[in-house]
Order: sequence, then C-alpha cells, then structure tokens
Amino acid sequence: MHTDNGQTRSVWMTTADTAPAPALTMDTTADVCVVGAGIAGLTTAYLLARAGHRVVVLDDGPVAGGETCRTTAHISNALDDRYVELEKLFGEDGARLAAASHTAAIDTIEDIARAERIDCDFERVDGYLYAPPGEDRDLLARELAAGRRAGLDLTMVERAPVDGFDTGACIRFPNQGQFHPVRYMRGLADAFERAGGRLFGHTHAHRIEGGAAARVEASSGHAVSASRAVVVATNSPVNDLVAIHTKQAGYRTYVIGARVPQGRIPHVLLWDTLDPYHYVRLQPLDDSYDVLIVGGEDHKTGQADDMDARYARLETWTRERFPATERVEYRWSGQVMEPVDGLAFIGRNPLDADNVFVATGDSGNGITHGTIAGLLLTDLISGRENPWAGIYDPSRKSLRSIKRFAAENLNVAAQYADYLTAGDVSSLDRIAPGTGAVLRRGLSKLAVYRDESGALHERSAICPHLGCVVAWNSGERTWDCPCHASRFATDGHVVNGPAITGLGAAGDDDADANG
Ligand code: FES
Repeated sequence: MHTDNGQTRSVWMTTADTAPAPALTMDTTADVCVVGAGIAGLTTAYLLARAGHRVVVLDDGPVAGGETCRTTAHISNALDDRYVELEKLFGEDGARLAAASHTAAIDTIEDIARAERIDCDFERVDGYLYAPPGEDRDLLARELAAGRRAGLDLTMVERAPVDGFDTGACIRFPNQGQFHPVRYMRGLADAFERAGGRLFGHTHAHRIEGGAAARVEASSGHAVSASRAVVVATNSPVNDLVAIHTKQAGYRTYVIGARVPQGRIPHVLLWDTLDPYHYVRLQPLDDSYDVLIVGGEDHKTGQADDMDARYARLETWTRERFPATERVEYRWSGQVMEPVDGLAFIGRNPLDADNVFVATGDSGNGITHGTIAGLLLTDLISGRENPWAGIYDPSRKSLRSIKRFAAENLNVAAQYADYLTAGDVSSLDRIAPGTGAVLRRGLSKLAVYRDESGALHERSAICPHLGCVVAWNSGERTWDCPCHASRFATDGHVVNGPAITGLGAAGDDDADANG
C-alpha cells in the first residue's frame, strides 16, 4: 500500500493492501458527501448508507491512506488525557459520557467486524496503565477513582501480566480491543459499497460549500452535490480556517515494530504515565512471530527533525523491558491532533452552514474517536438526538482549558518569527540529494528539495493556511508546518490539512492562500 503522507511504512501498510478506488470522473449527486476515507469518514459513510442515505465518499488517496494506516490501533476507553482531567473539564456527567462513547465504539467495531465478516484480527484484550519509577504513583489511585465514577469497571492490580517486566501497580482496563486497521478499513469499504455507497479515491476535494446548494468540488473540476449534508473527515478539517485550529495542535508520534516469538509476551495494551507516554501492543505476524509495537517520543509537528534519535530511544526502551525483542522491522511516524481539552471535535462546523459537519481531534484515541464520529454524525444528520453531542461539540469552549489553549497559541505565535531568520542553509549546494531545506532568497523563503538524481524542486516555504514557514521532515520527506500541522509532499502538494491547497510557486509567497 502506497500513500504520499510520508516515506515510512507501517506494519499495516506492508501486510495488507487496500482495494483501489476509482477517481471521480463526472458530476454526481448524493444525500451526503463525505470527504476523507479514514476511520471517521468511512465509518460515518457506512452507518449513513446502512440507514438508507445515498452517500458518496471522496479521498485524495486510497482508503485509510492518511493517518489511519499510521495508527497503532489501540481500541480503548482508557483516554490519554485521563478521567481525572476530563472530570475537571466536563464534570462527572461529561466524563461518564466520554467513557460510555468510547466503550460503545469498541463494541461497534466488534459488531461491524462480525456482521460484515471482516478478517481484521479483532481481539478483545485488557489494557494496563502504569506509573514508572519517579512518576506520581498517586495519579493511578486518582485515575482509578475517576474512571470508576465514569462507569468503567477498573481494578488496581500488582503489575501487568508481562514476564520479565515489573511495571509495578497498574490500573487494569478490561475488555479493550485491537485489530489490523487497514484490513478493517478494506472490509468496511466493501461493506459500504454493498450498502449502496460510492467511493472515489485519488480525488482531491478543493472546494467545500454548505447550505442549500451544498457541494464538494474536486480539483479535476467534477463535483458532488449533496442534498442533505457534507462531512469533512480529513484528520484536520480543510474547510475551516481558524475556529478549530486554534483549539488543537498537531504532534508527530513515532513507532517501532519488532519481531518477538509468539507466546512470549501476552496480547495486552500497555501505557505508561510519562509525557509523552509510551504505548505498547502486539500484532500476530505469522505462525511463529508477533510484532511488538511500541510508540512514543512525540513532538509538535514541524518543530523537531531528529527521527533517528527518537527511534533509537524507543528501541532502547523496548529492549530493556522486553528481552524477547528480536529484529526491529518497522519504523514509522504518524500525526496526532491534540485538542486542548482532550476530546475530539465532532459535529456541526463552527461558523458554517448548518449542514456541514466535521470530525477531528483524535487525541491519540483515533480509532475510537473516529468510530464515535460515525455513530454521532449519523444521528445528527438523520435528525436524531445523541447524548454525546454536547461533549464533542466543535463549538464548545471551556474556561478550564484556557491555560493549555493559551500555551498552544503562544507556541504558534512564536513560529511566525521564522519569517525573519536566515533559513536552514545559505546556498543550494548545501542541500544533499534526498534532502530538503528552507532557504532565504531576497525577501522570500523557499522550500527546496533535491531529489536523488540531484534535481532541485523549489516551492514557496510559506504555508497556504495562515502563512507560517514550513520545516523539512527528513524522516518522512515532507514539508511540515509548525503552526497547525499542515503537511506537503516534496513537489508541494498538500497531504494533510488544514491547508487545502499546496505550497505556492517559488518566490510567490502569497500565492495559493486558502483565504
Ligand atoms: Fe496553519 Fe500552516 S497549518 S499556518
């Protein structure tokens, strides 16, 4: 499976393929047009189609070709922003709704996999949250109490059931899930089409309009007119300039996958309480081996470029705790959209027509949040009440999250200083084949990539979203924006929103702006 979101390949991309979806080659109509064939978009599309709506899905790549093929697919109601925090932000009732919605998402995935006979290695597993030495162990007791108040059946156990790795006391989250996300998405795409849905890949949506004449226009010029609603499920919404993007921040997270003999490490989900935290699970590989998948080492998108050091630290961490680790065969990175208050944004797009919906802010729980989006948006679009609508409302503001809001936006403001700096290199000769760098030429900042044959590819380094200077990501060979995490391929085309268009021509610093 090939995507242009980066050059690394996850274990999922190497062990499954998605069915190719044809491009949109004519104008068409639907009740609902969904932009994005990742977990949120396709689950929404499938459930809407099952409910009798005529649904068209557009994606600029293959099914699951964005961040869904880069997840580690922990399917969990152990939320990484912690129930202790959610209680403060949303109250006890809100925390209960959050827990119930994530539990429902796990059940929904299991139900869909079973009903549609999707062979995706879905497995119920227990999850364990532990506090490493030096961390606040009281946090576990507080989280246990808050999680129980939220309605979860949690217990404190002496250690996780992993031979040779003494985690110390930890909270057991029973009945979590895991699966192979690309196989699940392939089965879901087939099920969507069996339910009458139409799916178009390699179709970039470049104009999205709500209201009475709601429509999505592709860059090819063909359009889908939607009589009922448009859903934008593009990881980071490409139809919103500011409202949501000041309330969430993009992070890169890193993952390694190593062979371990089957049976040496039980299938569990494991998380520590560090910040950034480590997350661990296993995936069956063949008759003799599992892949031990370990992630962590997050940083804000576009604000570090030291991937090798991060993979090395993950490997050291893994070998120290899991002596059965053999060869590391997979290394990849993915993007996490971190909302200021820990819950996704799912519902009506703020400041937009009533029939435009978004799903974003995975918060490290992308598979459950994406599935919740499917359940919640299907209700909203069908005119049904849903008890979760309030906690996921994209328009919500919480005074209690104001500190994190302010910190994230100060960090964004600081990125604009890059306009004034010299650039990464002073001349083109300093850019080695296969690498990129930002260069100042007169008043312009250029994003220059030199391909393996030595040819130079120059684009404007100014992000078309809100004008920050992009940074080179040597691990994925992309240009990443440090402000709101848009990402661009080496030829400048956009691979991740909020930008909806690519980097402008070199020297054309104002070209292509979204607004
Ligand atoms: Fe907002 Fe680049 S993503 S300025």
